[in-house]
Amino acid sequence: MKKIGVLTSGGDAPGMNAAIRSVTRTAIFRNLKVVGIKRGYQGLIEGDIENMNLSSVGDIIHRGGTILRSARSKEFMTEKGFQKALDVLKIFGIDGLIVIGGDGSFKGAKKLSENGFATIGVPGTIDNDLGYTDYTIGFDTAVNTVVNAIGNLRDTSSSHGRANIVEVMGRHCGDIALFAGLAGGAENIIIPEIDFEMDEICKKLISGRNRGKLHSIIIVAEGVGKPYDIAAEIQKRTDIETRVTIMGHLQRGGTPTAQDRILASRLGAKGVELLLEGERGKVVGIKENRIVDLDIDEAFKVDKEIDRGIYELTKILSI
Ligand code: F6P
Repeated sequence: MKKIGVLTSGGDAPGMNAAIRSVTRTAIFRNLKVVGIKRGYQGLIEGDIENMNLSSVGDIIHRGGTILRSARSKEFMTEKGFQKALDVLKIFGIDGLIVIGGDGSFKGAKKLSENGFATIGVPGTIDNDLGYTDYTIGFDTAVNTVVNAIGNLRDTSSSHGRANIVEVMGRHCGDIALFAGLAGGAENIIIPEIDFEMDEICKKLISGRNRGKLHSIIIVAEGVGKPYDIAAEIQKRTDIETRVTIMGHLQRGGTPTAQDRILASRLGAKGVELLLEGERGKVVGIKENRIVDLDIDEAFKVDKEIDRGIYELTKILSI
């Protein structure tokens, strides 16, 4: 292993820059050459690649987004595109690759390693939807962004005596909704993993209003969908005016939290160490605050499960 590449792929996540920095500096410390591949697998196919040095990753640990930019490459999914990517890796003399991204990006990493190319996946996605790791890079920042927004919404919700629905990201996973709901003291949390009863939600809103409560925050994970329909139904049943806020891509940007920077720094460095040990087709993650690694195949077999204990706790604390 003499030269490695690093790329970020799929939806960007705060902390990706800290991971790029960690990969680059660990590799240089270990006497490896490093190249940065722009725009994920698409840039790889197009040979959009540049040499990295210590200063290339200076002053980025605190920045959201990704200096390498990102993409969801359709071309890489085709046989022709994939072969092109393999050719480019050869032409540039790259011996190993670190892929920072989510499950879609890991599928690409798996295919590369199955085709003999040493590839390690580092989990970077705000969704926290990978079962094998407790946390993914970007999740903590996204949760904090939502918690801050809930604070603002509480103010206006109280002023007007309204209910506010907040739709948060997470694709099919309810983790952002659950964690932000707990930290933000939301009255109700609606996530795709657990059925919800409209009656129960409305009962809680009415009993809150009856005891003089002025604000109500209902977090809905995007996997549930139809936030405006839910709002209309709540308003119809409770007579409480209900507004909707879609958090959208606000959750994907911003200064990464210390937690995300630390996670990214630890995971990026571990990825490089694995390449140096001759590993290929692995992913890194964190379990009970220990950095772990496992085969990509094994990682895909671990289903993501919602923490029902936390869900029950949010119900108790929001009575
Ligand atoms: O996977 C990250 C994520 O932000 C999801 O939460 C969301 O469903 C999706 O990406 C949005 O993708 P895009 O930025 O391509 O619209």
